[in-house]
Amino acid sequence: MKVAIFASGNGSNFQVLAELLPAQAELALLFCDQPQAKVLARAQKLQVKTVCFSPKDFDNRQAYETQILAELKQAGIQWIFLAGYMRIIGETLLNDYPQRIVNIHPSLLPAFPGLHGIRDAFEAGVTETGVTVHYIDSGVDTGPIIAQERVTITEADTLATLETKIHQVEHRLYPQVVAALINKEEEA
Ligand code: GRF
Repeated sequence: MKVAIFASGNGSNFQVLAELLPAQAELALLFCDQPQAKVLARAQKLQVKTVCFSPKDFDNRQAYETQILAELKQAGIQWIFLAGYMRIIGETLLNDYPQRIVNIHPSLLPAFPGLHGIRDAFEAGVTETGVTVHYIDSGVDTGPIIAQERVTITEADTLATLETKIHQVEHRLYPQVVAALINKEEEA
């Protein structure tokens, strides 16, 4: 089964997924919308094919996603895992990959959706946040939840220590959930 990862930035989640993907899955494509993103170098090092272009090069989101779709089809992609892909997924991709696009978000959804899940939880002064893996739907961080894990925020935590704790959980949880999804599909 062929899978793609979409990422826009550092790519630490891309890295762990690439390294821990079950044998029956092939990471056939990294799609990146940011030509300067660090994730591109990570992919090259792991010899994963990369495709990179920006929505700025297109008239609208539909045209941008139509081009992504063409790349996905050409590569025979069946699953898409978002790993720090900082854009909304539109209808063009959603229609072709229903319940086949999965995201990781650094909060306990539905709390703290959006671009700054870790910071928003920290600034809100809550004592607990976490990590959510969920299917993508047409909303922002609203799709059906697949897995969640809690992270405690203590008095001693700073934003930086909380970020570290969240990323540690992400790097364990995401590969586990992805493997479970792939194994389940293989058994079906
Ligand atoms: C992660 O915190 C993920 O939950 C969020 O974006 C961040 C990406 O980090 N969606 P990285 O690029 O994988 O290091």
